[in-house]
Amino acid sequence: MDLYARIASIPGWLSKIDHQILGTILRMQEEASAPGAIVEIGTHHGKSLLSMLAASGEAANAYVIDLFGRQEENLDDSGRGDLERLKSNLAEFGIREDRVVIDARSSFEVTPGDIVAGVGRARLFHIDGGHHFEAVANDLQLAIGVLEPNGVLAVDDVFRAEWPEVSMAVFGSSTLAESGLRIFAIGFNKTYWCRSEEAEACQSALLADEFLGSSVRRTCQIDESPVLVFKRDPLPEWRLSWLLGCVIELRYPRVFGACRRSIRRMRSIFRRNDG
Ligand SMILES: C[S@@+](CC[C@H](N)C(=O)[O-])C[C@H]1O[C@@H](n2cnc3c(N)ncnc32)[C@H](O)[C@@H]1O
Repeated sequence: MDLYARIASIPGWLSKIDHQILGTILRMQEEASAPGAIVEIGTHHGKSLLSMLAASGEAANAYVIDLFGRQEENLDDSGRGDLERLKSNLAEFGIREDRVVIDARSSFEVTPGDIVAGVGRARLFHIDGGHHFEAVANDLQLAIGVLEPNGVLAVDDVFRAEWPEVSMAVFGSSTLAESGLRIFAIGFNKTYWCRSEEAEACQSALLADEFLGSSVRRTCQIDESPVLVFKRDPLPEWRLSWLLGCVIELRYPRVFGACRRSIRRMRSIFRRNDG
């Protein structure tokens, strides 16, 4: 079974596009022997964690933070972490226990020193914990405190209308800009930052991936730097066939991607023949 199909069977939230972006970045870092661990706030049952670990070498470690049994502190009910399910999913995917440091606390209690003492600094930091303003603002500071200079930051639900608190925490302060990070890609549900010097390499790696290369919707400019956008939201004005395409893309991303690539290839052959 293909990896995403296995990952998709775990309860939680991870689109094929974000699975592929996270995996591509981690494989690129692996090839460059980039130092650092994977750090995640909000691990739930381990869906995104397993996607990231599967794309990393055997030597890669992770530090994961989730309230787990302390759900009364989960103020916005953004998923309910479950430690036993996480452990059984890690075992099912053959991940050695010593590769993952599990910190079953609120991210408000965790310091950069705790993470560095557990796994060192982060080459990929994924924020997907509490979705209210204070939690996201806190988690951004934590991420900046431990990110390797060439590390990548991924934040969930930045452009999702249901969670304006996340957008406000991300863009309502200069925390990220002051730390020298810039957006290089907007995935399905996650937004990705790195330092300017790393952006071109990250974007080239994403475009070189067959699935992602054919999934880019547009390239926009933010602060005069290009940003790859991988998502578009359906509108009521859309033709029925486009809306149907949207549903197929969501439920069967591999099939949709393969069809789109074939159509593009056929179009380019017809264009060449016409010319
Ligand atoms: C949206 S879920 C994470 C989804 C997960 N990344 C996946 O791949 O399915 C959010 C998680 O954050 C946890 N959480 C909420 N507030 C938190 C906090 N202040 N500190 C740590 N974890 C928190 C919840 O227990 C929940 O498991």
